[in-house]
Amino acid sequence: MTLPDRSALSRRDYLRTLVAIGGATALSACVSESGAVDVPTGTDDPESLPARQHAWNDVLSRDDDGNVQSPEHHVLLPLSLVDEPTDAARAQVEDALRTLERAYEWSNEGLVFTIGYTPAYFDRFDDSLPESVALPEPAALTAAENPVFDEFDAVLHLASDHSQVVLEAEEGLFGDHDDLNGIAVETDLTGVFERLEEQRRSGFVGAGLPAEHTDVSGVPDSVPEDAPFFMGFRSGFIDSQATEDRVTIEDGPFAGATTQHIESLETQLRTWLEQDSHPMRVRKLFSPEHADEELVGDVGEKLTTTNGLTDERIDATEADARDGVVGHAQKAARGRIDGEPPLLRRDFNTVDGDRPGVHFLSLQHGIDEFVRVREAMTGADLDVGNANNGILSYIFVDRRGNYLLPPRSLRALPPTNPQ
Ligand code: HEM
Repeated sequence: MTLPDRSALSRRDYLRTLVAIGGATALSACVSESGAVDVPTGTDDPESLPARQHAWNDVLSRDDDGNVQSPEHHVLLPLSLVDEPTDAARAQVEDALRTLERAYEWSNEGLVFTIGYTPAYFDRFDDSLPESVALPEPAALTAAENPVFDEFDAVLHLASDHSQVVLEAEEGLFGDHDDLNGIAVETDLTGVFERLEEQRRSGFVGAGLPAEHTDVSGVPDSVPEDAPFFMGFRSGFIDSQATEDRVTIEDGPFAGATTQHIESLETQLRTWLEQDSHPMRVRKLFSPEHADEELVGDVGEKLTTTNGLTDERIDATEADARDGVVGHAQKAARGRIDGEPPLLRRDFNTVDGDRPGVHFLSLQHGIDEFVRVREAMTGADLDVGNANNGILSYIFVDRRGNYLLPPRSLRALPPTNPQ
């Protein structure tokens, strides 16, 4: 594996590149670059951790407006089972994941993670999943896409503000690294799972991080300095997101679970940033009214805890489309239920494959809700040209995957119908 040229990159970009590469060599380069990072240790008491794997919001940092901030570094590790699940394998997976919880505080300063299972994983069991779990096979969701589907067994999502932590956690689970933040690794995931390195994905979020990637072809110098996301604006305002309660499955044997959709997409960033003016980008990403009333600011700083979409503006989607341009968020908000957004978006930027993109990761009660909102966002029903239909003409879907994130108590190789 070739490491990037240190002298050609900023420190943050170098660290981000190491996360994208992964493996033992990248980890040791990351450790020598970062020096001793003070990472808070975790807990020996699993009862002190949330029952839901997706319960991250209470332990993540907040921005000045009180919105939850995504950890800076993310790795999605696709996993394939080596043999059929047994009780011994379940115990091994649970022990290995508890090692992570002992090593790192459950927070953005330490590590948050989830393990999710695909419909392909559950297919091996005789029983089907209970009715309370809506987890269909992934499918193409727009006429324009021909995605590859995540048909492996599971995905581990690792997230931390420290690049070193996500790399180290991965190496502790699969490599030769036997000390995680001072905690000995006695059990790892090898023998139960194989990591599918070719499908490994990584990414980042944070004000200023996208602008540090102009060395990647397809990332123009015009990426706004302070933007946390490539397309140039803040995202994930707390009142425009589902709560963790809203996305939790409450009934049945998987009470405490949620479903996860991962849509990996490429963005035509240069065209997005260089073809249109800032007001036109605001029109296409938020709504025409957001541009006319100057509601957004340079990178979304005028919006505080909501994306500012009123019921009136959401109802005006069809008319705005007929008038020429319709906003991405405006269209997607048509998928709200009784005024509430059903999706908890935890998407992040990526330059995997040396191209700018987004791993759009969202949690929702059932995959049917994702599909409904995605259809509203696509807006095939709207009378508008493709180039003015939100951000549709700038995004290209590569992969899709559906997952169940069981509660922590069932996270180790769950059967379809646990007692
Ligand atoms: C390059 C990809 C994408 C970018 C840059 C992007 C960006 C944004 C931004 C800036 C907002 C407004 C701020 C906010 O509410 O957080 C937003 C809202 C939203 N986006 Fe996206 N998005 C992308 C892809 C997607 C995809 C694939 C979906 C799938 C359904 C989606 C669903 C939504 C929803 C549901 C909202 C909020 C609507 C509401 O207020 O109810 N986005 N997005």
